[in-house]
Amino acid sequence: MALIQARGLSKTFGSKAAVRGLSFDVTPGSVTGFLGPNGAGKSTTMRLMLGLDNGDGVTTYDGVPYRELKYPLRQVGSVLDAKPFHPTRKAVNHLRMLAVSNDIPRSRVNDVVNLVGLGDVANAKPRTFSLGMGQRLGLATALLGDPGTLILDEPANGLDPQGVHWLRNMLKALAAQGRSIFVSSHLLSEMALMADSLVVVGRGSLIASGKMSDFISTSNRNAVVIRVDNPELMTRELRARGAAVVAEPDGRLAITSQDSDRVGALAHELGVRVFELSNRQATLEEAFLDATGASEEFRASMGFGNQAPAFGGPMMGQHGYGQGGSGGAPHQGYGQSPQQGYGGPPQQGYGGPPQQGYGGPPQQGYGGPPQQGYGQPPQQGYGGQPPPQGYGGAPPPEYGQPPQPGGSPTPSPPPGGSHASEADHRENGGKA
Ligand SMILES: Nc1ncnc2c1ncn2[C@@H]1O[C@H](COP(=O)(O)OP(=O)(O)OP(=O)(O)O)[C@@H](O)[C@H]1O
Ligand SMILES: [Mg+2]
Repeated sequence: MALIQARGLSKTFGSKAAVRGLSFDVTPGSVTGFLGPNGAGKSTTMRLMLGLDNGDGVTTYDGVPYRELKYPLRQVGSVLDAKPFHPTRKAVNHLRMLAVSNDIPRSRVNDVVNLVGLGDVANAKPRTFSLGMGQRLGLATALLGDPGTLILDEPANGLDPQGVHWLRNMLKALAAQGRSIFVSSHLLSEMALMADSLVVVGRGSLIASGKMSDFISTSNRNAVVIRVDNPELMTRELRARGAAVVAEPDGRLAITSQDSDRVGALAHELGVRVFELSNRQATLEEAFLDATGASEEFRASMGFGNQAPAFGGPMMGQHGYGQGGSGGAPHQGYGQSPQQGYGGPPQQGYGGPPQQGYGGPPQQGYGGPPQQGYGQPPQQGYGGQPPPQGYGGAPPPEYGQPPQPGGSPTPSPPPGGSHASEADHRENGGKA
């Protein structure tokens, strides 16, 4: 439940600046999504936050750097690597070892194994694990000490749909208990359902940080949409009043810089018949593409040898929005520079329903529906419970008084823990 404050994080690999003076906060009680195109510096930032890379800047957890935390595994859980464990050490033994080294009750091992749905394979060797099973074991490791803060690098990677659903509910439930959750993901639709706040980076620099709703509201994909019997007259009059109007292929007009009340009133004034009038909210993906278009590190080119325009990285694909405007210059807050109209190819993706808050009613527990293959009933003791005692500024209580999970005075990540060292990271070609 710590307030995370990252200040001036920077990291250079040779002559390459991977992270450039990043500063942001992650507040307790919310899921903060960490977004950015491939190579933007997310994994490097997370390693810096945990003191696993040598770089500049400082990250504190309620004012204390990770290295100085008295009980790191009980205070900050992390998954930076999909398979952060020994391939032949049984999953349960991996967790037991960490529990012992961090003074965490042994019973907690079974709790987290069941919690992440690995009960059936607890005695299997992780080298036989699929990517998703590895992610689950990583999550079990991160949750072992029942930490108030979680830092997770693409934890949904490799999870099946049930797993993604489960993960979302679990992280939301953990945040609802007052914990601080910082999670990167390329699954923007998933992030839209899960996160309350965002930190968006591009080419190592901060593009935006703050509430997700604020971030989305700055997108120029937000528009008032109207369908009328005289679109020409309506367009002319709207433009005369300074509105940007785009005629869409289906005959609707998409209007920015006028609210729906004024558009409706103008139609009435003009005697134009209105068949439809609505507010269209940008999706997170649209806002993200707007904000990061100019900061992509890697772009796939379309076409076959000609000069087809750059078209977004591997995760971008279906839109083809122009790369105009925003995102190039790093800036604080959500002040993307204005997009120029809606030019270019017809816009895809307007039709989706507006994003609904954060995924419906608060989830009870972590359990969700039983997981395929690793099915476990929802666990007792999570979700819906009042936040556990002992988090926050004061060090967690000593162990030995169950049911509080344990911790360790060890100030650095235990061997074989959920962190890859910088050396490991290099060995892995820089991929977390
Ligand atoms: N160990 C390393 N050695 C050299 N360069 C590195 C290393 N780790 C990362 N980089 C470079 O730093 C930049 C940021 O990489 P990083 O892995 O942090 O990006 P990312 O945002 O996590 O990307 P992705 O979305 O693909 O996971 C990239 O240009 C990458 O090539
Ligand atoms: Mg990464």
